[in-house]
Parts: sequence; structure tokens; C-alpha cells
Amino acid sequence: MRIYLIGFMGCGKSTLGKKLARSAGLQFIDMDDYIEERNCKTVPQIFAEDGETEFRIKERKALEELSRFSDVVIATGGGAPCFFDNIDLMNRTGKTIYLDTDPEILASRLMKSKIDRPLIKGKSRQELIDYINNTLAERNKFYRKAEFRISRPDTGMDEIMDMIA
Ligand code: S3P
Repeated sequence: MRIYLIGFMGCGKSTLGKKLARSAGLQFIDMDDYIEERNCKTVPQIFAEDGETEFRIKERKALEELSRFSDVVIATGGGAPCFFDNIDLMNRTGKTIYLDTDPEILASRLMKSKIDRPLIKGKSRQELIDYINNTLAERNKFYRKAEFRISRPDTGMDEIMDMIA
């Protein structure tokens, strides 16, 4: 069993992933944490020192490695499904679930979040809403390739496991 959670920054992939892993007896892996460990650098450091293109290459490499792990729930980075043929690789090697979240909710969560996210650093609420809407317009075609979609935040863990069974 290998489950990939995909969706925009702030959609709750890590929170849901930990809960789902615990309830299903699977290991939880956060892809950004994995990239940081493998490269001995934080994600903001990779963006600042090597640039986004190099980050995407490292992200792809991490995905190739993680696609060989078993009995895991993987919370992917928000951009991960949208580069190379990453979403196809995920669909080939596991169950993909898109956490479809309202842009207003994403903006509120991201404004409060303490995680350093290079792509949205220093944005005002309005700039963030504009960024989310513009980026979602580009990314939705990748997110929608996920095999499953969750749009209710109160979806239960058993319900999710039944859905992908
Ligand atoms: C990114 C999302 C981040 C992280 C990086 C780029 C993106 O992950 O991979 O900052 O392109 O949307 P989260 O979705 O876990 O914040």
C-alpha cells in the first residue's frame, strides 16, 4: 500500500497524512522533510542557493526513491505533481488523493502558518489570494489527474480507506 496526498500548500496534506497513517497502520513520510534530509539543506536554502529548477530536480529524485517505499502515506509538496510526469509516476505506483480546498481557506491557513515557504514569502493577504488563484489555474489540470479527491475537511479515515480500497 502506498498513498500519495497531493494538493496546494496549506491544504492539510501533512495533518491528514499523519492521521491516515496512524489509523491505517502505515508509515508517514513528508516529502519536503525527505528532500531536506537527503540533501542536508532546508527547502528554503535549496530555493535560495540553487533555484527552483534545481529544487524540482531534487523533488523528482525524491519521488523516484519514495515510489519504491511500501506501506506508506506520503504527503507530497504542493508543486510536486505539476512537474515532469510526476503525477503519472504517482498514479502508476500508488493511490493518489487530491485534497481540494477552497482558496480563501488556503489563504487564511497560509497567513497563519509558521512554515517558511519560499514561493509565498512576504505576500500580503490579497497578494496571496491572487497567487493562489493564478497558480491553481495552472496546477488544477495536474491535481485533477489524481485518482481520488477529498473536498470535505471532516472526511473520516475509514471513509478514505474504503474509498481507495
Ligand atoms: C511548494 C510547496 C511546498 C514545498 C516548496 C514548493 C509548491 O510544500 O515543496 O516550498 O510549489 O507549492 P507544501 O505544499 O508542503 O507547503
